[in-house]
Amino acid sequence: MSGGSFSKVGVVGLGTMGAGIAEVLARGGLAVVGIEINDEALARGRGHLDDSTGRAVKRGKLTEEGRREILDRITLSTAFADLADCDLVIEAVPERLELKRRVFAELDKVCRADAVLATNTSSLSVTDIAITTGRPAQVVGVHFFNPAPVMRLVEVIGTVVTEPGAVTRVADLVRGLGKTPVVVGDRAGFVANRLLFGYLNQAAAMYGSGHATLEDIDTAMKVGAGLPMGPFTLMDLIGLDTCLEVLEAIYRETRDRRHAPAPVLRELVTAGLLGRKTGRGFHPYG
Ligand code: CAA
Repeated sequence: MSGGSFSKVGVVGLGTMGAGIAEVLARGGLAVVGIEINDEALARGRGHLDDSTGRAVKRGKLTEEGRREILDRITLSTAFADLADCDLVIEAVPERLELKRRVFAELDKVCRADAVLATNTSSLSVTDIAITTGRPAQVVGVHFFNPAPVMRLVEVIGTVVTEPGAVTRVADLVRGLGKTPVVVGDRAGFVANRLLFGYLNQAAAMYGSGHATLEDIDTAMKVGAGLPMGPFTLMDLIGLDTCLEVLEAIYRETRDRRHAPAPVLRELVTAGLLGRKTGRGFHPYG
């Protein structure tokens, strides 16, 4: 595997997605700089990396030596200045436009003039983020799926101002990492979420109206439709806050009622029950 025209890649934000992306890049042989906001968040990011690679060792998919090599390729830091010599930086901070715009303004200052800047946003406009930099032609979306080390699809998003060469270089990187890129335009939900979330939202509405139990809806789709997970198990994996954000973004753009968030989803998010990451969402965990 290889990083194509990229050799050193920064990842900003080491939550579930950022840590997964850092692992994928390091597994592909790239030098990775992982950035978090403070030491506590950095320790959490290191924990995600340790857990995920530890799981691979336990399953006999990776040797302890291989694991050490992967982790050694990842430098962790709280200083944006450590991204100065990266060819590509992928931002994976929470889905708040103002936060992402602040991160990109900072990246624009510290990164090399020829570096490509990418956002892993799943619901915000890549164009809105790109225009906060002085290099919108070198800004792309690179949308990984959860869990990033496992899911093979990566959506690569070019905006109306993205230079086509930047999209091609990032798509080549994705291929080099053993994943499958699809190139899509900057529309809410891109392709996969735009199609997936109408279904997930309908499942939530069905449960909310007493149509069937969570367990029975999950079982119907898993056993009957051959999906790897039922809709509620999947929403809990994605995070209910993320699900709500994705639905709101698609609804804002399309006004398609299928994407008007089901009330039960909003209630769970308000109550802080966000899925696996908080120990309870539609289902309880742990
Ligand atoms: N991190 C790293 N690896 C993980 C993992 C995680 N969180 N969860 C599972 N894995 C790995 C396991 O180690 C295992 O690897 P090997 O085959 O190499 O041993 C493999 O995945 C299968 O795991 P399990 O046998 O434990 O479990 P499973 O067979 O039920 O598969 C799953 C788990 C891969 C998550 C599968 O259920 C699945 O594909 N679910 C659907 C996931 C999906 O649709 N994701 C997209 C969500 S939409 C999105 O992410 C976009 C967005 O913007 C919100």
